[in-house]
Amino acid sequence: MAGSKTTALRLVALASVSVLAAACGSGGGSGSGTSGGGSSAAAPKLDGRGDITFVTGKDTSNNMQKLVADWNSAHPGEQVRIVELPESADAQRQQMVQNAQVKSNAYSVLNLDVVWTAEFAANRWVVELPRDQFDLDKFLKPAVATAEYRDKLYAVPVYSDGGMLYYRKDLLDKAAVAVPKTWDELLTACQKVKALPEAANIGCYAGQFEKYEGLTVNFDEAVHSAGGATVDDAGKPTVDTPQAKAGLDVLVQGFKTGVIPQKAITYKEEEGRRSFQAGELIFQRQWPYQWALANKTDGSSQVAGKFDVAPLPGLSGPGVSSLGGHNFAISAFAEHKATALDFIKYFTTEQAERSNLLATSQAPTRADLYEDQELVKQFPYLPTLKASILAAKPRPKAVRYGDVTTAIQEAAYAALTGAKDSGAVLKDLQAKLQDLLK
Ligand code: GLC
Repeated sequence: MAGSKTTALRLVALASVSVLAAACGSGGGSGSGTSGGGSSAAAPKLDGRGDITFVTGKDTSNNMQKLVADWNSAHPGEQVRIVELPESADAQRQQMVQNAQVKSNAYSVLNLDVVWTAEFAANRWVVELPRDQFDLDKFLKPAVATAEYRDKLYAVPVYSDGGMLYYRKDLLDKAAVAVPKTWDELLTACQKVKALPEAANIGCYAGQFEKYEGLTVNFDEAVHSAGGATVDDAGKPTVDTPQAKAGLDVLVQGFKTGVIPQKAITYKEEEGRRSFQAGELIFQRQWPYQWALANKTDGSSQVAGKFDVAPLPGLSGPGVSSLGGHNFAISAFAEHKATALDFIKYFTTEQAERSNLLATSQAPTRADLYEDQELVKQFPYLPTLKASILAAKPRPKAVRYGDVTTAIQEAAYAALTGAKDSGAVLKDLQAKLQDLLK
């Protein structure tokens, strides 16, 4: 009798352990406590169908709205409501983090910046996704890598991003200058273009220099384009070097000498786009989404048909882009995870990515679309963009990414505004990063 009682107790104990394990594996979201497949390598099964929210940054083209409207008419019992967050990446992250910290079920599908995966996965704010349900071998490899954390998949790449040099082709042609490959060539090209009477008051160059995520992107690009690295391939900080200083100094000098207009210190992507579209810049570092908008012939752009794009310039040859882009993930606290998973599948079909490219000129994550001759005819920058993405360097991967990017932004901003010497800035940044990335 005593023996069978002990066995029964053991069984009860075992059963509660496995219930616990299943709940942890699913991220603890309500209605999703089952583990899938039986194999320890399988991602937890995602359950629950019904209405969901899709939480995203600004929809500059309204194409997301269109894709969501199409989904909604086909799924009456699983309606998707868009929650549009502020324009700046940092403000978006802030709201998503706060939502996760209080375990709110208000957000279902999250449009995550590629740099947030580690933080969201390590904190179990998003659930692991079933890799075998996505044809990831058809996606650009660097984009897929941004959606993984410790070899598991936590998101699906929806669009990628690579920086490119936008330039006023009409003005360069008129001044008979070649497209610059280096910073020096860019400066010479600027002087020649500005000698044209119609270009005398035009700004030479701008990027994203406001104190936010875009500054981290531009700083990292300047450093890499001069042969340096903010962190090495193993993630160790390496930012206090002559190469990194040479890269940062290109931007510091740009502001000092007026090559970069003073007001560019307030530019995020959209302020810069408006300036380029108003015909105020010869050169600009920007993402591909600007192509479609700056080519609009509805009167919103003064430069439609007058510009082209090239690889970013570097110190002694072509430069290096920071890898950008966005991945969709499922909040651990969402109720209808099965619907959320289907919605992500729907958004990443070849058809949806094609429609997104056609409407927004954003970088697809499916490799085949870059080889599609019809698309290349309509978007001649696709080969340049693909090369930019394949050669792009990721920003530091960090669970405390919010602190890491703040440290970089503060350092870069202090140097660009002349508040602090670039050498001292990099020395301090190296110490901060060493502490944060331990
Ligand atoms: C774009 C990029 C993203 C980057 C952001 C910076 O949205 O896709 O990766 O962090 O710009 O502003």
